[in-house]
Amino acid sequence: MESAAKLRAAIEKANYEYHVLDSPTISDEQYDALLRALLRLETEHPELVTPDSPTQRVGAPPSERFRPVRHVAPMLSLGNAFDAGEVRAFDQRVRKLLGRTEPIEHATSGIDYVCELKIDGLAVNLTYVDGRLVEGATRGDGTVGEDITANLRTIKAVPLALRERTKGRIDVRGEVYLPVRSFEATNRERAERGEPLFANPRNAAAGAVRQVDPRKTAERDLSIYVYSAAGLDVPTQHQLLERLKALGLRVNPKWRLVTGADEVIGYAAERHAEREELGYGVDGVVVKVDAIADQERLGYVARTPRWAIAYKFPAEQATTAVEDIKAYVGRTGVLTPVAWLAPVQVGGTTVKRATLHNLDEVRRLDVRVGDRVVVQRAGDVIPEVVAVIDADRAGRGDQWQMPSRCPECDGPVEHREDEVAYRCANPSCPAKQGQRLGHFVGAMDIEGAGWAFLSQVQDRGLVSDPADLFDLTMDQLTALDRYAEKSASNLYQRIQAAREQPLARVLVALGVPHLGWTTSEVIAQWLADDLGPKATLRAVFDRLRATTPEELQATPGIGPIVARTITEWFADPAERAFLDKLARHVRPAMPERRAVAAASPFAGKSVVFTGTLERRSREDAEELVRSLGGKASGSVSKKTDLVVAGSGAGTKLDKAKQLGVAVIDEDEFDRLLRT
Ligand code: IVH
Repeated sequence: MESAAKLRAAIEKANYEYHVLDSPTISDEQYDALLRALLRLETEHPELVTPDSPTQRVGAPPSERFRPVRHVAPMLSLGNAFDAGEVRAFDQRVRKLLGRTEPIEHATSGIDYVCELKIDGLAVNLTYVDGRLVEGATRGDGTVGEDITANLRTIKAVPLALRERTKGRIDVRGEVYLPVRSFEATNRERAERGEPLFANPRNAAAGAVRQVDPRKTAERDLSIYVYSAAGLDVPTQHQLLERLKALGLRVNPKWRLVTGADEVIGYAAERHAEREELGYGVDGVVVKVDAIADQERLGYVARTPRWAIAYKFPAEQATTAVEDIKAYVGRTGVLTPVAWLAPVQVGGTTVKRATLHNLDEVRRLDVRVGDRVVVQRAGDVIPEVVAVIDADRAGRGDQWQMPSRCPECDGPVEHREDEVAYRCANPSCPAKQGQRLGHFVGAMDIEGAGWAFLSQVQDRGLVSDPADLFDLTMDQLTALDRYAEKSASNLYQRIQAAREQPLARVLVALGVPHLGWTTSEVIAQWLADDLGPKATLRAVFDRLRATTPEELQATPGIGPIVARTITEWFADPAERAFLDKLARHVRPAMPERRAVAAASPFAGKSVVFTGTLERRSREDAEELVRSLGGKASGSVSKKTDLVVAGSGAGTKLDKAKQLGVAVIDEDEFDRLLRT
């Protein structure tokens, strides 16, 4: 029916004007009226609903976990420059590699660069096929991300359909972020509900984007800026940005095409000066060689392009006085010295406390109560003390000492010789337990279990470790202050639902040092491959107790320190009772076994790379093949199935031809990856 299409077009136009052009032509009321009219029409005629209708932004049911998505080309990271000298060095390198160095006095033309803001958010990939959004994914480890399509669809600045019916597949990359005002509002609400605060807008955005329930993502005021794309045929980065904008995608308007290092440095200084007024987090500028042909010639080293660099803004600093130094007990029992400061403005926010990290750092800085210090806010909102400025004045206080008794429970504080940390040794220290409980309910997504709730169940002796949460009865919950029948019952349901959370969440929730989201996902996959999809939590814990650091380290993405901490933690007899209890209550959803074998074109194949690849390093390419079930080998033999030859391939290529082994180039390799 024509009117549905018309309404849709009008709404999409309004979205584009509002979110992409930042210049709305209709009022919010008019917009709502259009949306309501379309909703009514679609409710009466469900056959008119199209997947890219603006009414379908929040439509998908909550998903249990996120499906892994392999990126067409890896999502890379950038090298950093921290001062003007490093930017000049970058420019020099680019000119040298492109053969455009000339004595300064003869220098006629510099390199053209596109300068953009480096948005401090979360990198995502949006896939459009024939102009329609079909998939959205997180960056993940750069090679494999998570399918968060349903969540990204709720972001109004993400077009569900491009303004032009483009042919084939386009992969657009950008940064999802939370405007500073929305971040502050979110934290105010969380403080009122007694929930832990987000450290910075990036964390808040990351949390929103990975919500299992898209309705929760929709509640946050997320937006996006896009900055690159594969599948659009344009000769320069600046034309790419223009093209992306014309397609209806949101491009940050602050970009500029400049020539030479001096103009890059000037651009960065201007952006730095207006940083606080931007309304969104920016941690520097990104400098990119404009000509795509030159980008291709420059190529990559490891996982970073040689044609781009992130020029980071200097950290924000201010000076103030230290009023006190206190030890704060964290969830693992570690005592962290924290400086209580005379309030001071640092880069737009008021800072009252700053971390001193540990006792070694307190000694290194020689910071004492009464000192004037420099505090700094780097990428995170958690500020730190970086220097004492009046250390030689007369009448300074004494050196600060780590307390010998825990400030929370008065239990003994212990210190191992080989460790920096001091810990409260009392296993039932309420601070430790409280933090641990808070971390557990956060990671397990038990909504409504804020600090107000946790402190009550702790004080009443109902819960001493996180596993006890599952023993709480409806009667116990309704007996809590401020928990009426309805809210108690909601909370009860949420706790019950948490019993079946995905394994990675459960692993994060345990609060093992170094076991964060990324590592947990890697380990969950490893366990699923090893134990199968029906494994119980008990089997999981047994397996982890039986593993060695060496075995864990053999899993890509797990380093020696992480491997050691994890194995030690699971083997620690002090955790045994808690883990046994938890295993009785929780039956996590296991990830699916990796089904690479049949589907992948590389399964069981032996592949050799030779010459220089343009779009990835040889290590990355080999890793890709291995992750798809193939074998990457260094030399060509009769057993080799495939040789991928980059530029300058030599003897291995000759040998392959001699033996009649199939040889392909990188474009063909990309095509195979896509199948
Ligand atoms: S270009 C190979 N442009 O910074 C080129 N990245 O350290 C890769 N980012 O993961 C990225 N704003 O999340 C590019 N205008 C911008 C950016 C930007 C933010 C993030 C992005 C990337 C990280 C690179």
